[in-house]
Amino acid sequence: MSARSPFRPSFGSNPPLVVGRDAVLDEVADALDGPAGSAGRAALITGNRGIGKTVVLNEAEALARERSWLVLSETATTGLLDRMTTDGLPELADLLRQSPASRPRVSGISLPAGLGGVELDLPEERGPGGLRRQLNALTEVLDQHGTGIMITLDEVHARAARDDVGQLAAVVQHAFREERPVAFAAAGLPAAVQDLLTADVSTFLRRARRFVLEPLSPVAAEEALRVPIRENGREVADAEVATMAAATQGYPYLVQVIGDRAWRQEPGAPTITADHVERGVREAIREAGFALHEPAVNDLSETDRQFIAAMAADRHESAISDIQQRLGRDHGYVSRYRSRLIVAGVVEPSRRGYLRFTIPYLADFLRERADYL
Ligand SMILES: Nc1ncnc2c1ncn2[C@@H]1O[C@H](COP(=O)(O)OP(=O)(O)OP(=O)(O)O)[C@@H](O)[C@H]1O
Ligand SMILES: [Mg+2]
Repeated sequence: MSARSPFRPSFGSNPPLVVGRDAVLDEVADALDGPAGSAGRAALITGNRGIGKTVVLNEAEALARERSWLVLSETATTGLLDRMTTDGLPELADLLRQSPASRPRVSGISLPAGLGGVELDLPEERGPGGLRRQLNALTEVLDQHGTGIMITLDEVHARAARDDVGQLAAVVQHAFREERPVAFAAAGLPAAVQDLLTADVSTFLRRARRFVLEPLSPVAAEEALRVPIRENGREVADAEVATMAAATQGYPYLVQVIGDRAWRQEPGAPTITADHVERGVREAIREAGFALHEPAVNDLSETDRQFIAAMAADRHESAISDIQQRLGRDHGYVSRYRSRLIVAGVVEPSRRGYLRFTIPYLADFLRERADYL
């Protein structure tokens, strides 16, 4: 019996089973199979922290690779454009030049079937012009072989790379207009992406297909827990699966941590028991404190923290008027910090005049760790 936990309780790593994302992934697959330049080939994925954006990008890349497409996986950090023109695209070009027989690997990627031994001159040039000419040279070759290139961009909302993101979007837009075999998928936090779209000159991103990742349904969360446990040789009763799933609040990160901690209570035992689940959930929530809550709070200013501390007294949602009263501040002050925290992805409006935390158990964390604030 395998005693190793199948769960992947860390950001950006693929879970043993991806659940609840068929809608977006089916559309990505359809767009790849559809005509070049179609709107569906540009996807903008948003969702709260830990909801599974990076995993959706990984899965989209896998769909592209299955179709023998090349993939360039990037994150919007400083130097994005330079990285693409000096490393990313030249490495893909090298890959295409290699003879199909030798099959070596460049940074872990292998050549799609039927490609290789291609003569390809990639202009050594930087900046948006260089990017455009390099992408043209690559797609000319890929088009002849009936494949293409998928570019993914994670953390698209990052302010540090805003100019580069705008320039990349413009280059991809050109490629779309020229019906080149290019697909583009980007992911980021909802309000920050909204901010980017409002500020950005690029209409391309604004026109991309939008997918908002929601928390998993109880059925999906149960499946994400039950299937890996049973496939890895252990038993678990439906009641225990339901308890774990409820504790996740549909939050994919918690699915992985809770599954992992419940598994690790007694990895050699044939069954995950109610006791394992109870202790596992408790440990997982404590773990979320380090991995989720502390970093989220650390990112905030002193005044932001006072604001969320004022929310922590409430169970599910906080009335803006209560927050105002607790802070002893005027309406203008409160609405300014309200907007800041929404863009930071920490709170969201639950209905008119009310706010709630986007991160599960954050209110509990703030109540228990008042010292932390
Ligand atoms: N569809 C899914 N089914 C099961 N587990 C998932 C799913 N999506 C993501 N996870 C798990 O949830 C965790 C967070 O996923 P991911 O890193 O993709 O989130 P994210 O939205 O990119 O977070 P961040 O905003 O911090 O970048 C990971 O442990 C991952 O394995
Ligand atoms: Mg991510």
